[in-house]
Amino acid sequence: TVATGKYADRFGGQLVLVTGAGSGIGRATAFAFAEAGARVIAVDRDSESAARTAEMSRLIGSPEAWAETVDVSDEQAMEKLAEKVATEYGVVDVLVNNAGIGLSGSFFDTTAADWKKVLDVNLWGVIHGCRLFGKQMAERGQGGHIVNTASAAAYQPSKALPAYSTSKAAVLMLSECLRAELAGQGIGVSAICPGFVNTNITSTARFAGVDALEEKRRQKKSARLYGLRNYPPEKVADAIVRAVVRNQAVVPVTPEARGAHLMS
Ligand code: NAI
Repeated sequence: TVATGKYADRFGGQLVLVTGAGSGIGRATAFAFAEAGARVIAVDRDSESAARTAEMSRLIGSPEAWAETVDVSDEQAMEKLAEKVATEYGVVDVLVNNAGIGLSGSFFDTTAADWKKVLDVNLWGVIHGCRLFGKQMAERGQGGHIVNTASAAAYQPSKALPAYSTSKAAVLMLSECLRAELAGQGIGVSAICPGFVNTNITSTARFAGVDALEEKRRQKKSARLYGLRNYPPEKVADAIVRAVVRNQAVVPVTPEARGAHLMS
């Protein structure tokens, strides 16, 4: 299949690694890069969905696509992945640290174990990815780009999402610090900040300590407040590809995320 679309072959010959590629925004991002001619490594802790993403990426236009089953919060597993990628596939040109989990619950209903779990995946997963693959990029000396999926929650305080929002605020700052550090080496770093996007995370988030009915009511209320639509993950994927092409620093996606960013 020959890559078509807006960025047809824009990423031809490039190697793109996407974490959390088995579903939602990550899968759509793998497809967007596949469509633009990139070789794709789809990483997810769920092997079947990662394999499916790789298979579909090939059908869409990726000359080569592979699936890797890794938990991004597992430092050793990430080290192994980085070694394997460097030896078998090459140095990654674009890294998309996208894997993340949702967690809602008031501050005092969020247990220490919940805090740890969400920070392990949402923050440490990104740290491991940036350290390991960013280093390979820098050592190769031919530039590259890192995209981290933060969230509008990073700059929009919420009583219902203290741990999640904190993890994303950290990802946003990490991205900006790393951007400054790597600018001289031709490596761009972008933080993508979507608002409410229609994916599994928004339908299956675990509502620790929050009554499910109350949470439904809260979501309905914020849907009214922000005029939330069924914002598709494909549009976030487009924003991610654009962020790489234009080397954008912080990218709020979805209308309410843009609105909140202007006010922050
Ligand atoms: P999703 O639940 O559809 O996809 C997340 C994927 O990440 C899944 O395939 C899951 O298996 C994988 N994953 C989770 N933990 C992992 C781990 N430890 N190691 C490897 N893979 C792991 O959710 P969605 O919405 O596509 O989320 C992607 C990113 O976008 C997340 O970082 C999320 O926080 C962020 N985001 C999502 C928003 C939304 O409204 N859907 C809004 C703002 C940010």
